[in-house]
Amino acid sequence: MVETPRINKIPYGGDYNPEQWPEETWEEDMRLLKLAHIDIVTLNVFSWASLQSDDDVYHFEKLDKIMELVQKHGLNVCMATSTGAHPAWMARKHPDILRVDHSGMKHKFGARHNSCPNSPTYRKYAPALAAKLADRYKKYDNIAAWHISNEYGGECYCENCEKKFREWLRARYKTIEEVNRVWNTAFWGHTFYDFEDIVLPNLLSEHMDGGRTCFQGITLDYRRFNSESILNAYRLEYDAIHAITPDIPITTNLMGAYQPLDYQMWGKYMDFISWDNYPANDAPIESTAMRHDLMRGLKQGKPFALMEQTPSVTNWLPCNMLKRPGVMRLWSYQAVAHGADTVMFFQMKRSIGACEKYHGAVIDHAGHENTRVFREVAQLGAELDALGAQTLGARSDAKTAILFDWDNWWAVSCSAGPTVYLDYCDEVQRCYKALFDQNIPVDMIGVEDDLSRYDLVIAPVLYMVKTGYDEKIRSYVKSGGRFLTTFFSGYVDEHDLVTVGGYPGRLRDILGIWVEEEDALPADMHNHFRYQDKTYPASMLCDLLHTEGAEALAFYEEDFYAGMPVLTKNAFGKGFGYYVATRSSDEFYRQFLGEICKDSGIMPVMDTPDGVEVTRRVNEKGVFVFLLNHRDDDYTAVLPFGGANLLDGKNYKTGDTLILAGKDAAIVKLQ
Ligand code: GLA
Ligand code: ZN
Repeated sequence: MVETPRINKIPYGGDYNPEQWPEETWEEDMRLLKLAHIDIVTLNVFSWASLQSDDDVYHFEKLDKIMELVQKHGLNVCMATSTGAHPAWMARKHPDILRVDHSGMKHKFGARHNSCPNSPTYRKYAPALAAKLADRYKKYDNIAAWHISNEYGGECYCENCEKKFREWLRARYKTIEEVNRVWNTAFWGHTFYDFEDIVLPNLLSEHMDGGRTCFQGITLDYRRFNSESILNAYRLEYDAIHAITPDIPITTNLMGAYQPLDYQMWGKYMDFISWDNYPANDAPIESTAMRHDLMRGLKQGKPFALMEQTPSVTNWLPCNMLKRPGVMRLWSYQAVAHGADTVMFFQMKRSIGACEKYHGAVIDHAGHENTRVFREVAQLGAELDALGAQTLGARSDAKTAILFDWDNWWAVSCSAGPTVYLDYCDEVQRCYKALFDQNIPVDMIGVEDDLSRYDLVIAPVLYMVKTGYDEKIRSYVKSGGRFLTTFFSGYVDEHDLVTVGGYPGRLRDILGIWVEEEDALPADMHNHFRYQDKTYPASMLCDLLHTEGAEALAFYEEDFYAGMPVLTKNAFGKGFGYYVATRSSDEFYRQFLGEICKDSGIMPVMDTPDGVEVTRRVNEKGVFVFLLNHRDDDYTAVLPFGGANLLDGKNYKTGDTLILAGKDAAIVKLQ
């Protein structure tokens, strides 16, 4: 849909489930959706049971009627394939479709997102249904996109998956000797003599309660295998649809920083990225911003779709607070500010039964337009109509990148030491926040992405350095790039095997340091260091390091390692390698990263107080600066540029004052 010229504006709409309602209510829904300026509906997300009642028995009459209805009313469609939950009869007749969980328990029919990705039944019937849908509805010119399944996720430990895991290992490692090497099975007498000896790592084998594993290598490979298994199931549907409607883009709705699936690999097989954004009401703004940037990065900065958000409230938090007036609009523009070209909701109409009956919707149980939520949705809809195509296709022009790597995330999370308090995502977010707070644009990139377009690359906790990645960093820094990494970096290779000869292993020459030990501190214990006349905390993990050519910028002040360097800078080729040997405070990261940006000539889009976010997107129509006031009170900006606020049509000259009320947003198109 991002690429469909038919909707030459930001598509606006979301999940619509008329099949859950009597037909006589449909026309009234249409009236209300029009009134709310909705122009796209996601149909057919969970209809497998009604579309297929036996192996060869399909029923499309109801969906035909729904398609006629929405077409008649000029709505575009994001057409789902319904395979996010299999029918009950299928589970009874073909139990191979049921998953086995981490504890080894075989599931019965129930819930959703419940199919084993390697089940022959699933792999047969899911693409078969997708093909039938594509074939039947290809004549409609209002299908803007295909939406495969729904929020893929989870894992399976069934016997079939176990068999497939062995095949996957054989293809990857060729010999059992190589498997033994990469898993270091000489430890605890785990030597495997045959691929048949290998079992899946869960509570019945390598895992302990709480998700810890005895064999990181096995668990790491299982995670790769599981992510790929689910991806392969998606690809079967993709191929089935693409063969029939090659011009309609295909997506599936992702979930941001979702650990089980390596979205960077998934992104390669999606025509555009779409994701579901459900931050808790008190989630830090930068955590949402980072996730948008992460999703944008999956396709090297190409605009993405906000596939779902709630218009008002979720149903699955312990306490589901309403989005305050203006927040839905603000967060919608936040998505656009970070690269979304589509704004959509879950859902159009609140269901009357089951677990989502109290989830927010455009049409509430009251059934009419006289609600706060409806009015807010309609107002945003009118604004997006007026905004038109201006921002479509615009990209970030960030000069700073933060590396995010799923393999590294998996490896850090099962590292078994030095501390359970280390959370990779959290560490990435700390660095992100430092830049976010200064309105310095960031691209979130993966290990395959090009580094040369950036002046600064930050790789927080780069624990796993895959073969060849050190070389990529090395040549980037040699030719003038600035590279920064933090504690617990360069320890292992892609198999989670330690690189011997001293940490940070393959990064040692680039950083000009040798890390001898690492000290894990309990939550209430801190060391300290002084930098630029200020004292900052050193917490959680403290690397004890020696410089080997790097300049030490700060030193630990306490404990037996007082006087050892904690912050280093190494001139390497034409560039620099920086190392932050501990976890410090937000204030520190802001100061230190801010300085490095300044040295690299990287400028904030604009200076604003905390709680006022600013981003920039650029397309052939111009440069767009998004101002988002997340605070409750007014914010008065003195604009360092002139331009027109596309949301209210007002024009500004450089130095003019723009007053942004609490929760308000502006999109200034620069002159
Ligand atoms: C997810 C799903 C939707 C719905 C919403 C509720 O994002 O994709 O089907 O369950 O959550 O928040
Ligand atoms: Zn399985």
